[in-house]
Order: sequence, then structure tokens, then C-alpha cells
Amino acid sequence: MNDFWNNHSDRYLEMAFRTGRCEILTNPDGYGKNTGECGDTIEMFLTVSNDRIEWVAFDTDGCVNTRACANTVAELVEKKTLEDAWKITTEDVVSYLETLPEESHHCAELAVGALYLALTNARINIRDSWKKLYQKNF
Ligand code: FES
Repeated sequence: MNDFWNNHSDRYLEMAFRTGRCEILTNPDGYGKNTGECGDTIEMFLTVSNDRIEWVAFDTDGCVNTRACANTVAELVEKKTLEDAWKITTEDVVSYLETLPEESHHCAELAVGALYLALTNARINIRDSWKKLYQKNF
């Protein structure tokens, strides 16, 4: 366990253990739920104002790497426009964290996939605002 602390960057440790975004938003502007082949799920919630992402929250049953990746996605897209948020890739998450183990790069894919689904949902909600009234209430 000692190695865990020594083998990770400060950024990784901050993203892995930050808890401020772990919440389920009721009535988000964008919602995405992604389940990986490992069986872990991330639900991502976006608050959007004037086409800009104001807040990202998430809930996951995944491992510490999954949490690090979800927090990183939030860190990278907050205050960005929806269009710019689409440019975030798995590689961006891996490179931001610096020490995400190679065998856990799929955790970054899971988080970015949840983001893409939430962005798609946000687009639909902006285009057809009436649909938001009928989506799942959390
Ligand atoms: Fe399943 Fe990280 S181990 S997403």
C-alpha cells in the first residue's frame, strides 16, 4: 500500500480522492450513464449555462482509478463550451493524471464515454427543451 502513495503524482492523488463532485444532481442539463466491460458504471451530470459547462458532478461504483478519471474529466471540461468539451479525449485524461496505470486506461475511456453521452443529452435538451421535462428525475 505504501507504494501506492509513492508511485502516484500529486495530480493523480488529488483527483483520486477529491469528493466535492460526487453527487447526484436532480434535473441536470446533461446526463450520461456509461458502463464498462468490467461492469463499473459512471453517471455524469452537467449544469450548462449559455452553452458553457458550469458544473460537473458524477456518481460511480468504480475503483479509485475510475474516480480519478471522472474528476479529471470534470476538471478539464468545466467552464468550457459544449463544443470544446467534445475535444477532450482519453489521452488527455491519461496525460493529466501522469501516473494512471496502463491497465487502467479503460477507466479513462469509461469517464470520457460518460461525458460524451452527457454532452449528447445536453444538446438534445437545449434543442428540444420540452424533452427535459420527461427525462428521468433523479
Ligand atoms: Fe472498471 Fe476502472 S476498473 S472502470
